[in-house]
Amino acid sequence: MIRESTTNLNIATELQISGIQKQFGAFTALHDISLNVQKSEFVCLLGPSGCGKTTLLRIIAGLETADRGQIVQTGRDITHASAAERDYGIVFQSYALFPNLTVAKNIAYGLKGRAQDKDRRVIELLELIGLPAIAEKYPAQLSGGQQQRVALARALATSPNLLLLDEPLSALDAQVREHLRGEIKALQQKLGVTTIMVTHDQEEALTMADRIVVMNHGVIEQIGTPAEIYQHPASRFVADFVGHCNWLHAHAVDSHRVRLGEAELNINSETALTAGQNHELFIRPEDIELLPQWRAGEQLALGKLLHLELIGSVYRLRLSVALWAGIELEVVISHRELAQLRFADGQLIPVYLPAEKLRCFAPERAA
Ligand SMILES: Nc1ncnc2c1ncn2[C@@H]1O[C@H](COP(=O)(O)OP(=O)(O)OP(=O)(O)O)[C@@H](O)[C@H]1O
Ligand SMILES: [Mg+2]
Repeated sequence: MIRESTTNLNIATELQISGIQKQFGAFTALHDISLNVQKSEFVCLLGPSGCGKTTLLRIIAGLETADRGQIVQTGRDITHASAAERDYGIVFQSYALFPNLTVAKNIAYGLKGRAQDKDRRVIELLELIGLPAIAEKYPAQLSGGQQQRVALARALATSPNLLLLDEPLSALDAQVREHLRGEIKALQQKLGVTTIMVTHDQEEALTMADRIVVMNHGVIEQIGTPAEIYQHPASRFVADFVGHCNWLHAHAVDSHRVRLGEAELNINSETALTAGQNHELFIRPEDIELLPQWRAGEQLALGKLLHLELIGSVYRLRLSVALWAGIELEVVISHRELAQLRFADGQLIPVYLPAEKLRCFAPERAA
């Protein structure tokens, strides 16, 4: 379980979440969640369905109450404040615009003050989301992507210090989703508004977040930048959930060497192996190298091609390697790399596992 220090806070901290616990009957949806979010930071809560992302976001919004723990926003304890007393804007997965109100009225809904000030603010916001001409339209006359931009404008109307987004893109088709990712990120940076976005889409989190909070079964598995999470996953769960992994069940002969089937492999892992024990090693599909020509040496074996498919800009191959206990490996290579390969009889290809790309976690405790 990851705990963030709640000491040494300074004015750069927008949100300080500590020890949040939430039960639904006998079921614990959140166990002791602690997290600090800095001002202007874009944080993604990432995890599989049911891990507690929405529950945490709703607690931050005051739409759900925590059983234990504290939430402080810029120095103010808001743990028991009602939703209306808190300072945030929110966008949900389903558009949730009022269908009987025009776009302008939807955006102005939470605004107070004189009509002309509201009108000016609505124009400003429509320009901000790049849809200046739709003020008098109704939600049903807009595409899904346009509706989500309007929902975003409505959430930002009162200039909140915190923007909460719950899977705002997941109901949209792939192309619109990718486009809006970039737009939301650009808007967030321009306004500098602290943002917490819930998603179960790892690509969305990796491309948009300054920091990712990986959740599983109501606990935080890891907090880190996209590069930290991808390159240094803290657990098997994170390694598998963010990106793909090949897992090798190997026997350690010393602190940096394992036996796998008939061969021995070197590992340059930060975590030393325990000689005489079995370890789960992992390597990313793009870190495995396929060679155009066979040469003898360490970390090398012949793989038999089982399957080859094109996935957009790269190829994905499945190989089985007899020398390494018949393990099946997933490998991702570029078009250029594929063109250089020569498949020998029986579709055999030399496979190289770089020692510095093979990593391991300490053996997991038996459940
Ligand atoms: N009001 C409720 N009553 C009972 N159980 C609930 C309630 N709200 C959420 N849960 C349970 O708490 C767990 C976490 O739910 P939550 O909606 O936070 O998950 P999530 O991570 O947002 O998942 P998804 O990606 O599917 O939206 C789930 O097992 C869910 O069934
Ligand atoms: Mg959810």
